[in-house]
Amino acid sequence: MNTLKVALLGCGNVGSQVARILLDDAESLARRAGARLELTGIAVRNVDAPRDVELPRALFTDDAETLVKDADIVIELMGGIEPARSLILRAIEHGASVVSGNKALLAADGPGLYEKAAAANVELYYEAAVAGAIPILRPIQESLAGDRITRVLGIVNGTTNYILDQMDTTGADFADALKAAQALGYAEADPTADVEGLDAAAKGTLLASLAFHTVFPLEAVKCQGITGITAGDIEAARDTGFVIKLLAIAEKQTAKDGTEGVSVRVHPTMLPRTHPLAAVHGAFNAVFVEAENAGELMFYGQGAGGRPTASAVLGDAVTAARRIVSGGRGRTETTGEPLAVLGEDSILTSY
Ligand code: HSE
Repeated sequence: MNTLKVALLGCGNVGSQVARILLDDAESLARRAGARLELTGIAVRNVDAPRDVELPRALFTDDAETLVKDADIVIELMGGIEPARSLILRAIEHGASVVSGNKALLAADGPGLYEKAAAANVELYYEAAVAGAIPILRPIQESLAGDRITRVLGIVNGTTNYILDQMDTTGADFADALKAAQALGYAEADPTADVEGLDAAAKGTLLASLAFHTVFPLEAVKCQGITGITAGDIEAARDTGFVIKLLAIAEKQTAKDGTEGVSVRVHPTMLPRTHPLAAVHGAFNAVFVEAENAGELMFYGQGAGGRPTASAVLGDAVTAARRIVSGGRGRTETTGEPLAVLGEDSILTSY
């Protein structure tokens, strides 16, 4: 079996879980990927910083450039624009496939990076950048490729959904709910990006770009966060059968001059309590897609947190490995471990 070298850039909440799974679940991942995924190193700013997950000290380096040079797959989970962007470009130049969860970078410079990756005939995957564990980008890009999407409504920021949900269900005030979201590891290091809607806007542009085949600059997104939402607003919404959710909305619209186009915006929205998105609680995310032929679809799951987001990252890493192993066809005959088929009379419980 081939071995592919995997370089990890960043070891925060998500990165540390990715490293742990690569090490602990190596055999199973190898079967799924059709190649061993050897974690060759983890680039961090401070190799001695304390970490939540125990990982071999020898894996850590502060020399990301050297680590990237020798990798088949580079997983970038550093966040921010630089040095993440330069390191991804370096990886592409060296012919590595790239997996990134960096929504800010992809929203700011996605097209430039895809162009470079395409020119080098390598792939750039970023399922983890939008809605954590939820598989949403590939379904939009591939499964719905034969349909026309008309509207995407997304609860794509776990922190703000958690805050609004706590305010709605427990009467918590904004500050306490934010502190709890930070303690649970949902919020960004600087939660301004969450509460001002900027994180949702970045994810909204990524969704819109894929759903409507157009590049949406982040500056074109009208964005309002939740800092102005009061307990009174929440109560008034509840009393009239609504709930307030921060939505990223991308929809086909006709402009006043008759031009057909797409508008992308992020703002607190009054949703009827009967809408499926109203039932999305805590830090969960959901993306509600409307398409001409498919009708309404909803993708739901954990949108933040280390392990859920690591699941999406590893899905991309396995996909990248399969493509490398199969010489670009993107498939291998290998799959996960087969399990025994159990008859009805041999199981202990049923749902
Ligand atoms: N701060 C983000 C959120 C993390 O709360 O959704 C996941 O992108």
